[in-house]
Amino acid sequence: MHNFDNINNLKKMQKKILITGGTGYIGSHTTIEFLEKGYQVVIIDNLSNSKIEALEGIIEITGKKVDFFQLDLTDKEHVAEFFEINKNIEAIIHFAAYKAVGQSVENPLMYYQNNLFSLINLLEAAQENNISNFVFSSSCTVYGEPDELPVKETSAIKKATSPYGNTKQISEDIINDLVNSNPNFKAIALRYFNPVGAHSSAKIGELPLGIPNNLVPFITQTAIGIREELKVFGDDYNTPDGTCIRDYIHVVDLAKAHVIAAERLLKSKNKTNFEVFNLGTGKGNSVLEVIKSFEKVTKTKLNFKITERRKGDVVAVFSHTDFANEELGWIAEKNLDDMMLSAWNWELNLRNRQ
Ligand code: UFG
Repeated sequence: MHNFDNINNLKKMQKKILITGGTGYIGSHTTIEFLEKGYQVVIIDNLSNSKIEALEGIIEITGKKVDFFQLDLTDKEHVAEFFEINKNIEAIIHFAAYKAVGQSVENPLMYYQNNLFSLINLLEAAQENNISNFVFSSSCTVYGEPDELPVKETSAIKKATSPYGNTKQISEDIINDLVNSNPNFKAIALRYFNPVGAHSSAKIGELPLGIPNNLVPFITQTAIGIREELKVFGDDYNTPDGTCIRDYIHVVDLAKAHVIAAERLLKSKNKTNFEVFNLGTGKGNSVLEVIKSFEKVTKTKLNFKITERRKGDVVAVFSHTDFANEELGWIAEKNLDDMMLSAWNWELNLRNRQ
């Protein structure tokens, strides 16, 4: 006998979602959310900044099958071939991109070449194959040093402070122009604040190659003894405790928003053909607050020292959440302690396996 739940799940089973960068940090968590909602997923990833083990974690967690293609999206010929053999894709979630701010300053052409050509090739293939639903992985970096806090989707887009940030701005423009040229094509750009934490199973999480640039992996690696000490970049900012403020958001909350965004497009609930949403908690936390939360939930003492400011750091940024809360019906559920504990459990699990 069929009930409506079964029928809805069967309908979803027929829907195939392409996730580019699906073995990466946010991509792997998002793949799980789609699989758990009954969608079929096919991943494209070139494994340049992720490991195939993420796929094993995804399969272990969900008990579901996922198709994987090791493919570089800048390779136009192979991208076309991929779409020849994967015919029934209904939506694309595009994560695959380089994401290190400092590296982009040192090697801007590498960033423009990779992030923009990948996007253009993928959009071209989407057009050729009549795939009309596109979710893009953007960043709060597009706001630069904001004039107003919390930052709204309508806040000014400032000149990008890094080539990485510029690729996100240009990518949004490219998508917007394409949407304007093709009334059948719909897209949503999700502007992430600071994604941290890991899946509750501790089977997947952030896997920085080499020395981490970001705060939370640096904290967990210091606590486990891989790094000697964490450097807190400046305590003389104009903030309550002098350290920079960010809107840290649990990666699983972020992942869930992608399913909601894709379903919004699939069910044509979108109000305009190009929509932009901030994804944050709406709460700003300082670097010292993050450290305190980590020490509390892990009952450890972190070795850190205050050093000089890091060039290019924005003083404070956190999200206005009304638009995502009301329009998407999405709200970040996990707090900073959840983020720290899950990041720590992932680090412990990762090192125990090695
Ligand atoms: N920080 C430290 N020590 C470290 C690393 C970071 O004190 O070893 C501080 C930074 O100065 C900053 C905060 O921790 O105040 C967060 O830094 P992250 O590097 O973790 O994150 P960012 O806010 O610099 O960068 C993130 C994303 C980028 C994105 C940017 C937009 O990683 O992809 O947000 O603001 F572009």
